[in-house]
This record gives sequence, C-alpha cells and structure tokens, in this order.
Amino acid sequence: MYSIDLSGKKAMVFGVANERSIAWAICRILGEAGAKLAVAYQNERLKSRAERLTQDMDNVLLLQCDVSSDSQVEEAFRKTAEEFGSLDYLVHSIAFAQREDLGGDFSEVGREGFRVALEISAYSLIPLVRHASALMTGGGSVITMTFQASERVFPGYNIMGTAKAALENEVRQLAAEYGGRNIRVNAISAGPLETLAARGIHGFPDMVKIHAQRAPMGRNITHREVAGAALYLCSDLSSGVTGAVIPVDAGYHVMAV
Ligand SMILES: NC(=O)c1ccc[n+]([C@@H]2O[C@H](COP(=O)([O-])OP(=O)(O)OC[C@H]3O[C@@H](n4cnc5c(N)ncnc54)[C@H](O)[C@@H]3O)[C@@H](O)[C@H]2O)c1
Repeated sequence: MYSIDLSGKKAMVFGVANERSIAWAICRILGEAGAKLAVAYQNERLKSRAERLTQDMDNVLLLQCDVSSDSQVEEAFRKTAEEFGSLDYLVHSIAFAQREDLGGDFSEVGREGFRVALEISAYSLIPLVRHASALMTGGGSVITMTFQASERVFPGYNIMGTAKAALENEVRQLAAEYGGRNIRVNAISAGPLETLAARGIHGFPDMVKIHAQRAPMGRNITHREVAGAALYLCSDLSSGVTGAVIPVDAGYHVMAV
C-alpha cells in the first residue's frame, strides 16, 4: 500500500489477459489507491478470467474490446463515457505479433506479419488516446508499455522491436499534441517479466537470466515495480513529466555489456 490517493479518479486499462498481465498489476495498484476502473480484455475467451480477477473489486466496469476493430473501440469508450462521464487515466498495455515473427531471422518477416504487429502494438495507442482525450476534460495521464528492443537488438524480439520504436515515437508526438490540454503521455520501458506475451518470444528465458546477471541491481524486476511507476505517472508527483520513456529495468539500459 502506498500513500498516493487517487480516490475520485477514473482509469481505463487495456490489456488484462490473466493475473500475470502487467495491466493487471497496474489495475491492482490503481484500485488500491482508490481509482475507479474500467478494465478492457480482448475477447470472449478472456471474459471469465477478467470477471474472476475483478470480482472482489468495487464498481469495476468490464469491457470487451479488440483494438483491431474500430467499432469495438468506439463501443468501449461509449460505455465508459456513459458510466464514468469523464476519465483521468488511460493505460495501454497491449502487444501482439504472429508467433513466427518472434524468432528466426528478422528479414524473414512478411508484409502481413509486419502489419499485424505494428497495427496492434503501436497504431492502437493513437485511437485510444484520441477517444480518451475527449473524456479527459480535466487533463489526464496516458501510459503505454514498451521495451528496450526499440533501440537495441534483442534476438527473438524481431518485429516487436520495430513496433516498440514506432510506439515510443507516438508517445513523443502525442505528448506534443495533447500537452496544452494537460494530458500527459508517457511510456514505461519494463525489464523482462514472465507473462503470456513474453512466452511467445523465442529465447525469452535466456533474456531473463542475462538481464539479472547484467543489470546494475543484479536482479530482475517485479510486476509491482512496474505498477509503482504507473502509479507515479498517474499521480500529481509526475505533473511535469510527459513524452518520456521511463525504464523500470533494474538499470539494465545503462550497461554496454
Ligand atoms: N512481459 C515483458 O517482459 C514486457 C517487457 C516490456 C514491455 N512489455 C509490454 O507490456 C505490455 C503488456 O504485455 P504483458 O507482458 O503484460 O503480456 P500479456 O499477454 O499479459 O498482455 C498483452 C495483452 O495484449 C492484449 N492484446 C493482444 N492483441 C490485442 C487486440 N487485438 N486487442 C486488444 N488486446 C489485445 C492481450 O489480450 C493481452 O491482454 C505489452 O505492450 C508488452 O510488449 C512486456
């Protein structure tokens, strides 16, 4: 429990698949701080899991939303507007690439694999921010999740590195566009965490081991540490921070080897 009070604030969180999802860790910490939550899961298959996870939380609005569908995105925001009236925070914790594009040679990626990875993992932030901003009448904070593969080569991460580079560029452009309305847009660059999405990356277990060996802090990070950074980005403590990519990686990013 941290002493940041978000009571009266409203958050929409995209990307809850299971209890290991980074989005779920963020939901928990924002919920503990008193924020009211709209929790979006991708499809019917994930519905019962989302219902089970949120059953002990008060006043959670559950939304089904596949971000590849404009109409589902519109519907999710229509329901949120109806229930919440306004919004303070948007968390985008979504990524997807075809399994065959998360391993092997990067140059083998096909046109469709490139399109899918970039559309789901990077493009989706833009319409979500556009819709959310209409509800952020008193300013707001937008958080997305990235990885250092945007800048350096992590074998196996392949097309997702390209998607994260695009995503981080969007963070800067959206921060510039919305700053005047006091809507801040930032990314958290997390170290490796065992999640459903991570399991799809070829060589991920090695990535985790190497990270712990090389990181200045000599360990991996926790879901809770990433969620803590999200809490900070939602709170007034970060009122002057926008367009930033904040590493939560036990310092791994400063190391050359
Ligand atoms: N786990 C890590 O090591 C790590 C490190 C850095 C950044 N990240 C990023 O964190 C974010 C969350 O990933 P995670 O690791 O919590 O895994 P996760 O599998 O729990 O979350 C990924 C989410 O994306 C959702 N998603 C995929 N396609 C979608 C679509 N078409 N519409 C709506 N939702 C869709 C999935 O349903 C899932 O909830 C991703 O952006 C990921 O790249 C993860």
